[in-house]
Amino acid sequence: MVKQVDVIVIGAGAAGLMCAAVAGQRGKSVMLIDHASVLAEKIRISGGGRCNFTNLHTTPQNYLSENPHFCKSALARYTPQDFLSLIKRYGIAYHEKHKGQLFCDHSAEQIISMLKSECEVGGVEINMPCKVTSLSKSIDHFVIHTDQGEIRAASVVIATGGLSIPKIGATDFAYRIAQQFDIPMIAPTPALVPLTFDATSWQAFVPLAGIALEVEIETGTKKQRGYFREDLLFTHRGLSGPGVLQISSYWKEGEPITINLLPEVELAEQLIHEKSTSKKNLGNVLAHYLPSRLAEGWLEVGAYKADQRIADMQDKALRALGDSINNWKITPNGSEGYRKAEVTRGGVDTKALSQQTMMVNKVPGLYFIGEAIDVTGWLGGYNFQWAWASGVAAGQAV
Ligand code: FDA
Repeated sequence: MVKQVDVIVIGAGAAGLMCAAVAGQRGKSVMLIDHASVLAEKIRISGGGRCNFTNLHTTPQNYLSENPHFCKSALARYTPQDFLSLIKRYGIAYHEKHKGQLFCDHSAEQIISMLKSECEVGGVEINMPCKVTSLSKSIDHFVIHTDQGEIRAASVVIATGGLSIPKIGATDFAYRIAQQFDIPMIAPTPALVPLTFDATSWQAFVPLAGIALEVEIETGTKKQRGYFREDLLFTHRGLSGPGVLQISSYWKEGEPITINLLPEVELAEQLIHEKSTSKKNLGNVLAHYLPSRLAEGWLEVGAYKADQRIADMQDKALRALGDSINNWKITPNGSEGYRKAEVTRGGVDTKALSQQTMMVNKVPGLYFIGEAIDVTGWLGGYNFQWAWASGVAAGQAV
């Protein structure tokens, strides 16, 4: 038997749930389909199980896209305060952790239950697990074939996200649909991901694994430059921590990243000044500025003698040491990939979409929302805010 609804939303994650709820509450008949058997697994694991559901300081500048203007309209029409009103209406306790990042006090499950309830209010039919085998368009409707039969709808919203974390159900479905309808794509790459280095050259840094400190970190070209002041973590394979995850979204293969391991101090000048006043050895002086394990390890990497008296050292050597810490340039050989990436950068090219509604300009009735689109937020609740905002924009338009 062929089923007929107004709207089919494919992908019951953050964006899909929001879109379905909004469309349903406008009186549309909506079917929400997902191939997974558990609802919204990514929300469940997000924010360490507490879901960093938005960021109070969200602006379009917190997003990367080939067209940085695209996200403006949807973000302006559905703000962090709008999502917060919903959270408050459901009595979900939350707190601000750091730089405007809002987390649930208890569990990400509460966000899933809230969105599910919003779908129920809108009479949304949730159909999962359900596998979509094909999607085609006739003159005035779409036909979707699934393992549970054929469904027809006037509008179809693709909300299947990006490629990150395949083990919990990420697929390239959105990109395949884009290809089928000849919609341009921006090549997807893993983002918000730890960076790795050639094993031989990283060997010297392995003893530093586990050290974390606040740094300034930057990379990119004039057109798209990333700069963050956040924590960095040394790992056995490379660099991680919030600062590195942030910069990974801006990093392009072959380009170096620049790290200031001691942002508050012009170290070369300071060391040269200390040389005339201090009787200490180099190891002790450096340990005054950096965590002692890092100071020790850094001197070893640079083949400096930790026990030499700083007074006996040449200014040139002190300058080189200071510069290596204030201006460490290092070129990753890759990243930990989609297995570890929190998001996918790139996706459906926004050129093809309406920024008001998320509809494909040349395929009336077909919409893309959320992470499937080439709009990638910083770490810190910005990606969920995009999922909510783009979901609402499409939900109001279908
Ligand atoms: P999302 O991935 O949420 O949903 C896509 C849905 O489509 C899934 O349910 C999937 O099963 C389904 N699907 C895929 N292929 C399909 C197919 N072929 N057929 C049918 N269904 C299909 N962001 C943030 O702002 N704050 C945070 O705290 C975190 N934390 C975080 C932690 C971790 C570990 C990860 C991996 C990611 C985050 N994120 C985050 C990012 C955030 O989770 C992400 O940007 C949003 O979930 C994207 O929402 P979407 O709805 O677009 O995709």
